[in-house]
Formats: sequence, structure tokens, C-alpha cells
Amino acid sequence: MAALAATSPLVAACAGPQSTFTAAGTESESVLFLFYVMVAGGTAIWLFVIGLSLYAVRTTPAKDGARIGVRLIIWGGCVFPTVVLTALLFWGLKEMPGYRRPADGPRIAVSGERFWWRVAYDVEGEPGIVKSLPTGGVESANEIWIPVGRRTEILLGSPDVIHSFWVPALAGKTDMIPGRVNRLVLEPTVEGVYNGVCAEFCGSAHAQMAFRVVVVSEDAYAAHVAAQAEPAAVVASPGLDRFIENGCAACHTVRGTPADGSVGPDLTHVASRRTIGAGLLETTEANLADFIRATDHVKPGVEMPSFGALPDDEVAVIARWLGELR
Ligand code: CUA
Repeated sequence: MAALAATSPLVAACAGPQSTFTAAGTESESVLFLFYVMVAGGTAIWLFVIGLSLYAVRTTPAKDGARIGVRLIIWGGCVFPTVVLTALLFWGLKEMPGYRRPADGPRIAVSGERFWWRVAYDVEGEPGIVKSLPTGGVESANEIWIPVGRRTEILLGSPDVIHSFWVPALAGKTDMIPGRVNRLVLEPTVEGVYNGVCAEFCGSAHAQMAFRVVVVSEDAYAAHVAAQAEPAAVVASPGLDRFIENGCAACHTVRGTPADGSVGPDLTHVASRRTIGAGLLETTEANLADFIRATDHVKPGVEMPSFGALPDDEVAVIARWLGELR
């Protein structure tokens, strides 16, 4: 009882935007219900076993103890588990087609990079096997918008190491494996912002590989993708000049400018996203500057080099421009 009392405050963490208990999708609701059924079943079995233990250690032996023992073994040890496990098996089989239902909404490709998420809306064509994901589409990063009430197909791949795509509030996790494309259908039932994480150890910055899923109405979704398809809002600025001079364009694309690198996240609308560094920091000018200046300090293990050698005012100019890219 003391252990139970001591650990129960931990249950307070079982809510919020990154919890399977805050189910906001068809699949996660079904998983949560299954979880409750299994907890109830586990509790019943526990009570039964404890009851038997108390019965076994009582001081006066039962008159026909041997016969009761055999009955308990047959009914409690064979029949009961067989019936329960068979019922759970058939229930699981019944639920499974629901997790593989065909999509009726948008199609979004997500590639697991080290250590961030490449996102492409409205991708076309069938995915190839080698470089994994279909090309084209409207590129973004680390934030995925999807419409409520529709089944959005997410194509998942990776160019090099295995990651796992997990939005606990919406669905189970699905691996992102180099050389193949996995499909996941997300059917959110409640609008909101949900946290996603990488659920497969993928390298030094695995723990800082998060993202946001923004569930909105269909109209808001269409407007968002249309806005993301536009070129950058500010394409002439001292910040852009410093960005190009310091080699940032070798890795990052900002559409509408000469920056067309593809190693790092597309920054065309970086300021429209809630976070930078893959779910790490809120998108503010100050955080953008910190990230550029001390990248490996802010996000240990990151692939991007730190630009700590740049004068502070130069970093500030770049950060100010990035902050305008809504
Ligand atoms: Cu990507 Cu862990």
C-alpha cells in the first residue's frame, strides 16, 4: 500500500498532448479501450490469485483439499486462461482491419532524418524503394498539419537509420525503415496540437527528435498547405545576405531565394512553425539566435555545426530575418 501511495502521483503525468490517455484519434481510442480491458482483466486475475494464496495459507486444512486443488487447476489454470486468451485473440483480430483502413484524406510523406522530420504535403506518385519517399509536394519540417475527421495517409521512410513515428494521442507507433515505405493512417477526432516523438533509438540526438501534429478543420488545413506552398515572405534582407555568405544555403532551402540546400530542414516558412530544433525550442528570434550560435550545446549530437565564431550582431541579423519567414 505504501508503494502504491508513493507511486500514484506519477499518474498525474498521464494526460496532456503526448499521452495515450488523451486519445484523440480512432486508432488511439481503440488502443486505450483495449488497455482498460486488459487492466481490468489483470486486476481480476490478481485478486483471484491473492484470494487463492490466502486460502492456501489458512491454518485449518480443508477436508477435501486435494479434490478442490485439482478443480482449481482444471478450471482456474486451464479453462479460464484459454477462454480469456481466445477471446482477446479474436477481439484483436477483429480490431486489426480498422488500423489498415484505406485513407480518404490527404497524403503526406514524412522522412526521418538525423535528427528531425522532413515533411512533404500533397506528394504524388507511388513511393520508390531506394530513396524511399515520393518526390515533389510542398516541403516543410517538424510540424505536420492534418484535417480532423479524415483519414490522412502518412508515408514513412528514412534515408539512413531506423526511426519510429509516434503520436501517442493519435495512433500507435510505426517504424521508418531505410529502403522501404511504411504507411500509417491517422484519423483524428478532436482538433488540437499533439506531440510526436521518435520512438526508436537512432543516434546521439534521438531524445531531441520530436515534432508537433496540428489537427485543424479541412478548410484550415487547405489554407495552411496553400500558404506553405508560397515562396518566402521576405526575399531581400541583410539577414538573407549573411545567411548566404556564411554557407547556410548549402544545407537549407528558402524558396524564392538562392538558398536551395536539401541536407537540413526547409526554412521557407520556419517562423510559422511552433518549434525549432525538432520540437526543442519555441520559435522566437532569441531562440533562433541561440540555436545558430550554440547548436551543439542546445541540441547535443545535432548534425548542424555551431556558428559560435560569428559575431553576435551577424547572428542576430540572420535570426531576425528567419523570424520574419511566416
Ligand atoms: Cu529518430 Cu530516434
